Amino acid sequence: MKFFVDTADVNEIRELNDLGLVDGVTTNPSLILKSGRAILEVTKEICGIVEGPVSAEVAATDYETIMKEAAVIAKIADNICIKLPLTLDGLKACKNLVSDGHKTNVTLCFSANQALLAAKAGATFVSPFIGRLDDIAIDGMDLIREIRQIFDNYGFETEILAASARTVNHIKEAALIGADVVTAPPATLKALVKHPLTEAGLATFLADWAKTGQKIG
Ligand code: G3P
Repeated sequence: MKFFVDTADVNEIRELNDLGLVDGVTTNPSLILKSGRAILEVTKEICGIVEGPVSAEVAATDYETIMKEAAVIAKIADNICIKLPLTLDGLKACKNLVSDGHKTNVTLCFSANQALLAAKAGATFVSPFIGRLDDIAIDGMDLIREIRQIFDNYGFETEILAASARTVNHIKEAALIGADVVTAPPATLKALVKHPLTEAGLATFLADWAKTGQKIG
């Protein structure tokens, strides 16, 4: 499973990348707003930090303008991935951008039918949003399960990029189902390492080691 970090905070990205945990980065207009920085400038910096795909989202909704914005985004770096809305215009743009050799991430996916369309449009990634379905009392993991089954039925190469992953359980469940990628906030990725028994066991080992009076080296 690939881990993408869902942020435009370059300091958080650097910290996780130094841990060897980052296979890519996803951003969106809300994350760009939160960063307080210009999209082209911050995205270029992010592309220079990580080797994997960095998703930057168009803001337009009509096909012509999406394609113009995509052309600007595509020039940022070789590891850029153009993020497109799951609309008819977004899917048309996806088809053409993929034909031109660009990586694409079709986002704001909330149904298996939408994911099927993204795969037929040749999307590199499709981003089903787990957390936002949970927010309206629909099990977001069911969507990941349905998409996995459909994509496997037909051998679609589009990668399932489980997004809006808010908890470590979302990540575990997505991995059990077989999502290709999960994108999550830095804190959620870091929380994966935490377990109270690990912390308690380490404290006991350190206390007992201190009693030995020994040093290694
Ligand atoms: O990549 C999509 C992600 O940023 C959405 O997360 O928590 O706003 O639903 P959230």
